Amino acid sequence: MTAVDTDLALQRCIEPNCRAQYGINEQIYVCPQCDGLLEIVAPKIATDAATLRSLWQARLASLDQRDLSGVWRYRELLPFADEVTIFSLAEGNTPLYDAPRSAQYCNLKQLKLKHQGCNPTGSFKDTGMTTAVTQARILGAGTVACASTGNTAASLAAYAARANLKCAILVPRGQVSLGKLAQSLDYGAAVLEIDRNFDEAMRVIRELAEDKSIYLVNSINPFRIEGQKTVAAELAQQCTWQAPDHVVMPGGNLGNSSALGKGFQELFDLGLIDRLPHLHVVQADGAAPFAQLYAQYEQEIPTQNPSLTPVKNPETLATAIKIGDPVSWKKALGAVKQTGGRVLSVSEQEIADAKAVIGRDGIGCEPASATTVAGIKRLVKSGVIDTNDTVVGILTGHLLKDANYIIDYHQNKLHSYESGSGGSEAGTRITGTFSNPPKQVKADKGSILEVLESHKVPRFEGPGS
Ligand code: F0G
Repeated sequence: MTAVDTDLALQRCIEPNCRAQYGINEQIYVCPQCDGLLEIVAPKIATDAATLRSLWQARLASLDQRDLSGVWRYRELLPFADEVTIFSLAEGNTPLYDAPRSAQYCNLKQLKLKHQGCNPTGSFKDTGMTTAVTQARILGAGTVACASTGNTAASLAAYAARANLKCAILVPRGQVSLGKLAQSLDYGAAVLEIDRNFDEAMRVIRELAEDKSIYLVNSINPFRIEGQKTVAAELAQQCTWQAPDHVVMPGGNLGNSSALGKGFQELFDLGLIDRLPHLHVVQADGAAPFAQLYAQYEQEIPTQNPSLTPVKNPETLATAIKIGDPVSWKKALGAVKQTGGRVLSVSEQEIADAKAVIGRDGIGCEPASATTVAGIKRLVKSGVIDTNDTVVGILTGHLLKDANYIIDYHQNKLHSYESGSGGSEAGTRITGTFSNPPKQVKADKGSILEVLESHKVPRFEGPGS
């Protein structure tokens, strides 16, 4: 939590001209005075960095429910009393993989990928959902709700089931991958499909949440951000408290980049890391309002009051980040500026190829997550990242979230979106550069050996190849 001179955690408006403060248990999502985003601030932590490190290290060997969670293990950073009943699925605890083939593809000596898709419902959303649903129960909410491109919905549905809460999710019909939809149905949520895009769903759900019996858990909710920020602590611990030079992640509604920015800043303030990694955010070309804003910011003299122009009809096959009007852009811009990061966008072809390369590392991810490796490749090419730098890419969702996309890519049948205003790629075929289609074989040993003989493992040129 951002530390202030107060005895209690509180909610505070992020707008520099407002900074209004509210009680931790007031059910608000934006500042009632100026509509600004809210963040949680808390009393200074009295414990020193060395003690926190050894406390968190010791908890890795504990079987206590809180310690088994990769979020609640870092509870000194969270705005909850110790005695609170938590709703956890042992989230977090995600691996930091070495990804040598992806490194070669990006022209890096080394690349690590933190796979948030290894969370219980297969995406990073779980780390924020455990705290948001815990807060929902503290507030006595009967129903929790969100708008979603699929993963927030699946995650909320699972945690609502654990907490015995009614769950309403609003999704754009026909634009959510089947895996994610299936999860939400199985976890028992009311799945409400609308014939509009995610941004419209977000608008409607915010209206719905004006009713106090409904608790909104999109990432505009600052308790989501609190859980998600602990990923910075888990990552830093996995790097033996040496912050990497760069951390790269996809950007959609921009809650995750806001959370990682807050997380790293708090670790730095506590003396747990001695520098901030550059935080870079990557979007898809057809859904890149934040990258467009950043490009303006870079070209013109940075203004005091930048404003984001929404993309009206966002388009990308990476449906998780098909978002034109991200709610948390001000927080995310703060994180990028504070850490000297960049915001960029990549094409559908770059996303698809990067995804296949991540697969060849034996790791895999869903399409939106692959923007990271596509973005890292670009950042190395343009000299923002040096070949020798330490780089961590955040993979946000599991490979099985969107199986149709993968099958189409490997059979050379993947087409970028058909219509809409986004980008120049509408309706074009994605080349299966690293395609690996299934092969029909006769059911005999000789035929199988023949096919195996011609099956090549692709090589990627780069340092160490
Ligand atoms: N990657 C995946 C797999 C996602 O599901 C999302 C967002 C993002 C990246 C972008 O993260 O919004 O914090 O910038 N999915 C949301 C959802 C919008 O409804 O599941 P963000």
